[in-house]
Amino acid sequence: MKIIDLEERYLKEYFMCLETWSDEMKEAKDHKEKWYNKMKDKNLGVKLAVDDEGVVGGMIQYVPIEYSNAEGEDLYFINCIWVHGYEEGQGDYQKKGYGKALIQAAENDVKKRGAKGIVAWGLSLPFWMKASWFKKQGYIKVDKESVAVLLWKPFTDDAMPPKWIRQKMAPQSIPGKVLVTSFLNGWCPAQNLVNERAKRAANDLGDKVLFKEIDTFDRENFLNWGLLDALYIDDQFVRTGPPPSYEKIKKKITKRLKKLK
Ligand SMILES: CC(C)(COP(=O)(O)OP(=O)(O)OC[C@H]1O[C@@H](n2cnc3c(N)ncnc32)[C@H](O)[C@@H]1OP(=O)(O)O)[C@@H](O)C(=O)NCCC(=O)NCCS
Repeated sequence: MKIIDLEERYLKEYFMCLETWSDEMKEAKDHKEKWYNKMKDKNLGVKLAVDDEGVVGGMIQYVPIEYSNAEGEDLYFINCIWVHGYEEGQGDYQKKGYGKALIQAAENDVKKRGAKGIVAWGLSLPFWMKASWFKKQGYIKVDKESVAVLLWKPFTDDAMPPKWIRQKMAPQSIPGKVLVTSFLNGWCPAQNLVNERAKRAANDLGDKVLFKEIDTFDRENFLNWGLLDALYIDDQFVRTGPPPSYEKIKKKITKRLKKLK
């Protein structure tokens, strides 16, 4: 296995979280590609872990913290590390040292770029991206909002700890309508998928349902709301990790529609 920088020939895998075998991923449309095209000249870092046959088993992606939902100075933020763990497609690559090699490569890279530290996020739950995995890699917890834990590894004595940027507003209901609001940054195919499902469900339910997409790549929009990726039906927050199905979203909107009558 070797760690390489993202190459042209692996772009498709990268845009689809290494899940080119998955029909679900195709639903996520091209938001990630558009995000990449905006970020590639803004110091985005991507490393891939490639096996001896040239198959990509893992990836890590990190950005200057100014493009994340945390605040800090001279820090990089790992918004995603993923070692392919499904039996489908290329198969399960987890627990073979890929994750460790990827995070070390990212740390070395951002040190070379002059960063004062690196930041990661994880969940205080025993599944998905576990905060405990980063702790094992030497990261220290600095902030927490609900189950989302912010961790960091400072490289210099004068590095300042980062913190989460917190939610400032929530969408409000509109009389006589059901309002579906999707906050979309583009960095995460799973969230892009939720956006597409919500848009489709809202459109399929007629003109009493309004769909509003808020582009949170636009920093001003993000800072106004304090929400990077989120789904609301009226003023109700919808949990989007793991992504709810189209049917589930449609059912939730229908429930609100019935309350209108
Ligand atoms: C967390 C993750 C990146 C780790 O990568 P990996 O290649 O499986 O881990 P490694 O083989 O490099 O293991 C590194 C260390 O973590 C430990 N480890 C690996 N998986 C673990 C697990 N599930 N629980 C606890 N420890 C674990 C290993 O034992 C190893 O310990 P060591 O440092 O003492 O040797 C990977 O499992 C993953 O992608 N998980 C899903 C994360 C996810 O949902 N990402 C999407 C985010 S949007």
